[in-house]
Amino acid sequence: MTTIAIMVSGNGSNMEAICDHVINKDLEADIAFVASDNTDAPALEKAKRKNIRTVTLPYRTKGRKEAETLLCRLLEEGNVDWLILAGFMKLLSSAFVSEYRDRIVNIHPSLLPSFPGTTGIEDAWNYGVKLTGVTVHLVDEKMDNGPILAQEPVRIEKEDTLSSLTEKVHRTEHELYWKTLSSLFRGKLEYVDRRSR
Ligand code: GRF
Repeated sequence: MTTIAIMVSGNGSNMEAICDHVINKDLEADIAFVASDNTDAPALEKAKRKNIRTVTLPYRTKGRKEAETLLCRLLEEGNVDWLILAGFMKLLSSAFVSEYRDRIVNIHPSLLPSFPGTTGIEDAWNYGVKLTGVTVHLVDEKMDNGPILAQEPVRIEKEDTLSSLTEKVHRTEHELYWKTLSSLFRGKLEYVDRRSR
């Protein structure tokens, strides 16, 4: 069985969707823990309600180096195979990424490489594109940059508002993430990376 840990910073709707599919057993995985850099993340309460172990990493009090040292320890102790970022708003250090190369996955609310950064949905909306979407990718040293595992388009219709688009993108994320992870964990996912990273 694949063991995962999930990293969050805020709301946790993607974390929740993944956990629900694990609990329903349509995603075969064990969840070692959900970790947050932010003590106040609503995601932590949501995970606790599902009886999943939660951890707050001491980013605020002790800084990134110590937070990542603790994270490495927890990943080793839990024999974690994959680290799943689900709205985790901190950039992992190069040292950490190279230690866990090709074992960290992230979801981003746009069709990368368009609209990287923390406001992907708003940026696509403000630009006026007709098509945006969701990307699931491996994490490398740069933000929103690693090899793409899966993408799903979301069309922006005439009647959409920023709020209806945001809802559509999140709904798409909640389906695409667990399905991509399921293929990845079963060794069924092929991806091409023609860029030098
Ligand atoms: C999602 O849009 C995800 O793509 C991005 O951060 C947002 C997190 O939302 N990385 P939630 O915390 O999962 O609700």
